Amino acid sequence: MVKLKAALLAAAVLCLAVGWAHAQAQAPLVSGQSGGWRQGRATWYGGPLSFLSNFKNRGSPPEYGFGDILYGSCGYFEQNFSRPVTLQDLPYPKEMYAALALTDPDYPGSCGRCYEVRCKSGLVLGNGSTPYRTDQGYSLSANAPNALDPLGRKWLGNPTADQGLQSVRCWNDSHSIFIVVADSCPCIVRGADGAITGTNPPCCGSTYHMDLNFWGFDELSHPINGIMATEFRPVDCFTKQPLQFLPGFTNKTIYGDRVEAGWAWFPFNQSFSNFWAPGQGLGGSNATCVQLSSVPGGLTFAMRSGDQPGYQPFKGASSLDFWIKNLNSSTAAPALRVSLGDYDTKNYCDNIALSSLPTAQTSGAYHKYSIPISSFNCEFPQGKISSVGFQNVNGQAATFCLDDIVISGGTNSGGLSSGASTSSSTSNSNSNYGTVASGGRRM
Ligand SMILES: *[C@@H]1O[C@H](CO)[C@@H](O)[C@H](O)[C@H]1NC(C)=O
Ligand SMILES: *[C@@H]1O[C@H](CO)[C@@H](O)[C@H](O)[C@H]1NC(C)=O
Ligand SMILES: *[C@@H]1O[C@H](CO)[C@@H](O)[C@H](O)[C@H]1NC(C)=O
Ligand SMILES: *[C@@H]1O[C@H](CO)[C@@H](O)[C@H](O)[C@H]1NC(C)=O
Ligand SMILES: *[C@@H]1O[C@H](CO)[C@@H](O)[C@H](O)[C@H]1NC(C)=O
Ligand SMILES: *[C@@H]1O[C@H](CO)[C@@H](O)[C@H](O)[C@H]1NC(C)=O
Ligand SMILES: *[C@@H]1O[C@H](CO)[C@@H](O)[C@H](O)[C@H]1NC(C)=O
Repeated sequence: MVKLKAALLAAAVLCLAVGWAHAQAQAPLVSGQSGGWRQGRATWYGGPLSFLSNFKNRGSPPEYGFGDILYGSCGYFEQNFSRPVTLQDLPYPKEMYAALALTDPDYPGSCGRCYEVRCKSGLVLGNGSTPYRTDQGYSLSANAPNALDPLGRKWLGNPTADQGLQSVRCWNDSHSIFIVVADSCPCIVRGADGAITGTNPPCCGSTYHMDLNFWGFDELSHPINGIMATEFRPVDCFTKQPLQFLPGFTNKTIYGDRVEAGWAWFPFNQSFSNFWAPGQGLGGSNATCVQLSSVPGGLTFAMRSGDQPGYQPFKGASSLDFWIKNLNSSTAAPALRVSLGDYDTKNYCDNIALSSLPTAQTSGAYHKYSIPISSFNCEFPQGKISSVGFQNVNGQAATFCLDDIVISGGTNSGGLSSGASTSSSTSNSNSNYGTVASGGRRM
């Protein structure tokens, strides 16, 4: 079996972590009268030009200082480098895109996790129990109090403006939206060289904070509020049933019919990428498909801060299992190498050529591989593995689909154990992938 030391490829690899194949499809329900609702706060970013252009004071078009939702740090956009990414390249409805603050206790493994969020009329929380002040920079009413939202609605006003305190009047306190985490909101924003390029004060401090997108926010309260009090709870993306808060839910299946909760999706140097190609998977299910040309590229799945207690998707796992289909040949496996690593520290284990492996099973054009974790020869504890990468060999073109990527074995049930709550990461995950511009500033 030919293996290259993974470190050689480290610069090119964005890694991924995976979940457990079988037992963990059942996420824990939250019991109790509160239904798992917690208090939080939300801002928004992105939005339509027609609204943003009311804020020429904040920045230049087309973002006017509000950032955009297109290049989120979880990689949930389909990029074809022949043209810029647009809202049409987002696999989830734009209303669902949101970022968690790095200071949120369930930030680890939050890519792809879903939450139910509703607006709570009244004072907005600052730090601790102090109210948010209007002079803290997120109230937009000073600029354009009469700006209409896309449905033609006027702002309902701030009842505590005369005290300098930020209150919100929700459209409807009972109405909720469902969001998927696709991005992250760092307190301090750094450029690629490590220099500080900005700050996001609401994403600092002790109050649970989400940066919703413009459209999702506008379903709950007028965007002129800028910032609002919320109630939120983590939910199963499919059944919408509430999940345990800590540790946050992550799935040991990395890809089932979609990129599962816990996992970022990072194609790199691809000529084509599909997040969930319907009908391309096993038995006509969804698969994720990528086309790599002769430049070095690949597809990485990663769990951010996945090496923290309560997460650690590979802890005790015995194998990485997946199905792969070569779209360029009905018989040969694509010329790829598989790698494991620690996404946050960028340490990598050995990587392994598919051509050196036996096929465990076939189904139509699909080949199943089951790679013992031990064969990756990681020089760090298995609990720190948080990324899985598939990259082309010597820049050889490859076009392939992956399905049912599963972390098998292990005792950790992927965020379901009642493990320690975790401290949050201080890394800025807006720069976690190399091929696209960063997500931009937020309001
Ligand atoms: C993308 O391809 C270029 C060559 O075209 C290479 O220099 C770069 O390292 C590749 N990026 C990654 C992340 O592999
Ligand atoms: C408020 O939202 C709830 C839950 O969606 C809905 O049942 C109710 O009809 C809404 N109220 C109004 C006034 O729209
Ligand atoms: C909360 O405190 C942090 C420092 O701990 C500060 O950076 C942040 O701006 C404060 N946020 C609010 C809303 O007061
Ligand atoms: C975990 O992944 C499995 C397999 O794809 C899926 O059926 C299940 O719904 C996922 N669980 C949650 C809570 O998202
Ligand atoms: C399969 O992909 C489609 C989009 O092509 C998506 O709408 C659907 O939710 C996916 N199915 C599952 C089970 O995730
Ligand atoms: C990329 O997008 C362009 C323009 O929409 C299209 O013509 C081309 O076929 C796409 N490339 C791939 C590989 O899908
Ligand atoms: C298809 O496979 C051939 C050889 O098997 C290879 O030379 C070519 O680059 C591949 N093309 C793509 C698009 O994967």
